[in-house]
Amino acid sequence: MFNFKFAPTTKMRSETIRNKFIEFFEQKGHQHIPAAPIVNKADPALLFTNAGMNQFKDFFLDHQQAPHQRATSAQPCLRVSGKHNDLEEVGTDTYRHTLFEMLGNWSFGDYFKQEAIHWAWELLTVVYQLPKERLYVTVFGGDAQENLEPDQETYTIWKQYIAEDRILYGTKKDNFWEMGDTGPCGPSSEIHVDMRPEAVCTQKDGKELVNTGHRQVIEIWNLVFIQYNRLASSQLEELPTKHVDTGMGLERLAMALQGKASTYDTDLFAPLIQAITHASGKMYGQDAAIDTAIRVVADHVRAVAFAIADGQIPTNTRAGYVIRRILRRAIRYSHTYLGFEQPFMYQLVDVLAQQSAVTYPTIQQQQAYIEQVIYGEEAAFLKTLATGLHKLEHISRALQESGNKFIDGETAFELYDTCGFPLDLTRLIAQEKGLQIDDQGFAQALQVQRVRSQQAATIVQGDWHIIPHAAKPTFVGYDQLEADAKLVRYRTIKEKGQQVYQLVLDQTPFYPAGGGQVGDTGKLIAAEEEIAILDTKKEHELIIHYTKQLPKNLKTHWRAVVDAERRRLISNNHSATHLLHAALRQVLGAHVEQKGSSVNEHVLRFDFSHYAKISPEDLKQIEHIVNQKIRANILLQEQRHVPLEAAKAMGATALFGEQYGEHVRVITFDPAFSIELCGGTHVPATGQLGFFKIITEAAIAAGTRRIEALTADAAERFIDGQLAVLDNLRETLKQPKDLVKAIQQLLEERTTLRKALAAYQAEQTRSVKAALHQRIQAIHGTYVLIEKVSVPHIEALKQVAFELKGTYKPLFVVLAATIDQRPYIAVLLSEDLLSSTDLNAHEVVKELAKPIRGGGGGQPCFATAGGKYLGGLEQALTMAQNIFQQHIKKIS
Ligand code: SER
Repeated sequence: MFNFKFAPTTKMRSETIRNKFIEFFEQKGHQHIPAAPIVNKADPALLFTNAGMNQFKDFFLDHQQAPHQRATSAQPCLRVSGKHNDLEEVGTDTYRHTLFEMLGNWSFGDYFKQEAIHWAWELLTVVYQLPKERLYVTVFGGDAQENLEPDQETYTIWKQYIAEDRILYGTKKDNFWEMGDTGPCGPSSEIHVDMRPEAVCTQKDGKELVNTGHRQVIEIWNLVFIQYNRLASSQLEELPTKHVDTGMGLERLAMALQGKASTYDTDLFAPLIQAITHASGKMYGQDAAIDTAIRVVADHVRAVAFAIADGQIPTNTRAGYVIRRILRRAIRYSHTYLGFEQPFMYQLVDVLAQQSAVTYPTIQQQQAYIEQVIYGEEAAFLKTLATGLHKLEHISRALQESGNKFIDGETAFELYDTCGFPLDLTRLIAQEKGLQIDDQGFAQALQVQRVRSQQAATIVQGDWHIIPHAAKPTFVGYDQLEADAKLVRYRTIKEKGQQVYQLVLDQTPFYPAGGGQVGDTGKLIAAEEEIAILDTKKEHELIIHYTKQLPKNLKTHWRAVVDAERRRLISNNHSATHLLHAALRQVLGAHVEQKGSSVNEHVLRFDFSHYAKISPEDLKQIEHIVNQKIRANILLQEQRHVPLEAAKAMGATALFGEQYGEHVRVITFDPAFSIELCGGTHVPATGQLGFFKIITEAAIAAGTRRIEALTADAAERFIDGQLAVLDNLRETLKQPKDLVKAIQQLLEERTTLRKALAAYQAEQTRSVKAALHQRIQAIHGTYVLIEKVSVPHIEALKQVAFELKGTYKPLFVVLAATIDQRPYIAVLLSEDLLSSTDLNAHEVVKELAKPIRGGGGGQPCFATAGGKYLGGLEQALTMAQNIFQQHIKKIS
């Protein structure tokens, strides 16, 4: 390892360095702004975020009012395309990177040069304690072509802090910073640090090495004074307000503060380098070509992992192709110089994930996915890499023999097309062999192929049809109910015999069913058609939209629109389950645990552990607490990506048996009331629930109870329904003053009347019974009674028939009666009649039931039948007479 004397007093870890930067500017009144995504979808002028200031572009141009006049951030930046592109150099030197972290402070029309310079100096020399005698500054020296004067103001300010012989004037190339071909720009002042060993420093003045590409005299901080807007016409337009935009490379600052010879030796890269040397068995610091390869791999895997975590997978177009090129460059280096013939870089994601767990947790959250993507790319490219290298070797030998230095465009394109060699990779290898490429010829061949590939519709993978070049799908439905979307894959399934299409979009506001909450419905709207989304579900990480209609144009641009009204009702019910859960624990005790829940637009169902029925008072109290919380209109606090442990420490309720990731979403309605881990959608404030009403409470299993409840519109409808019943009752009872009393009175009257009726009926039955004894006849030795009787109920009919049993033998009784407007028949035969003849009450009653259009049955000695036709009773009695006559005939 290179040993040098530049000895800072502290050896801070990069995390501390980053934190100190942010804290310093926070103390100076700056708002800490989270990093923007690396993949810059917001600005068509850029593919990737290439500076911390990108996300503030509109503030500089006065297109938008900045919410804070001072800001600070740590921003991962990717300089691999457009105006700022370091890709070709990365790895060949020891301090440049494709992805680096920029620490910045900004003034939006607030402070200007004086403060920016003063604070930069204070932070570097007092907080970080960099030795002043190792610092140099550069100032814009003017540009005649642009008609710009030297920045003397900045020069004069610097004189307050640093000796004049350390202040250097620079050219437009080094000291006029521009974001891209257009956009905010202005003169800049850079701070450089000389990190050479003491002994070397005395031999040559560091001043002479500033901006010469020396690996140890390097720029660490760029202070830009934004004053202009570069127009598309390339003219500079003066801005109405002046701004400050500074950016310091964390990697380089760490190199200086940790006393390292290279950014790759800092704690930001050392673990990666170690993992690479370990896996390859190669040493770092012994061979220039191997060292370059190790640096390329370490740098590129970091850049690619961050880009994938931000949603940009390697593809064949635009930003995706840049990522693919970076990755393929690394694969080629690892193959040629580190000897890897199998995928290995994906394993480095684990090192990165651990390293960035605190500051950039998305790497860890998506680790498996990132590994999978990198593995896939490695495996695919390694399949053709050896062939391509072999071809190139062959071509270069042939060219060298013929004295030609140009690889023609067709050949370069063939390498690109069949072996997956990006042009810059072919160029890199060609350069190593002293050859050049016909770029124009390549561009032509590429164009022909583009036209061809546009015609290709989809790739088939299993039962999915994949639309190529799409980004990783994202869910935006916590913040939006509408989003622009493109189809990324689809498949056809059969559901209940019906053809159903499952669509996956590149981004979607549709919530997929999960956590007890139903999936969203809505529509996809395009210029040429509209498709109804009937349901949304999740399959692993894919959000699947169900529809009965396949888009006509698979590549069209959609507006994905969630049924907002339905979502509102669902969110109401979901938030209500949280309030109910908290209220249950408050009233019944902490043993209450959620056992399940189901939330849709109509009703919410909440299952929980509790040993007994909830008393009406407790239920009322629970309902009351929830309604109080609704009236308090508590604002939703939603925190995404909270480390699980931190969430638990906050007291968040987790579901027993539920698997949570490393990071969770926490939903709070008043930290003192309800904190839950939850992925569902919620109301912005509890007032939206309007009103909460429990409709049922019951046991669903031993020790588990279920509450069903309603909110908002449904609760209102429920109450309206109940009130309508009351109104109806009042109406029926002729608007009594006191409805309850009126009903009680009715019930009392009914009891009295029933008693009176029973007494009357008993009396009636008694007199019928008494009369029968007079009516019975003895015919040929058999007692017979076939009669219509008047009895109040069926029981009385039976009693009447049985009155004769025991007294007369042999006995044949058929009684007919009309009870409640319906015909009934009872048949009673004495035992001896049964044993001596083939008569059977059950059979007889079945016959007699026919004319009354009914049915019946019973025992051989007693049977009854009921019917529907009153007019048939007489005929039944005649039939009974006939049966009896036949019986007599038989026995006489
Ligand atoms: N925008 C400037 C840069 O990227 C300073 O932040 O260097």
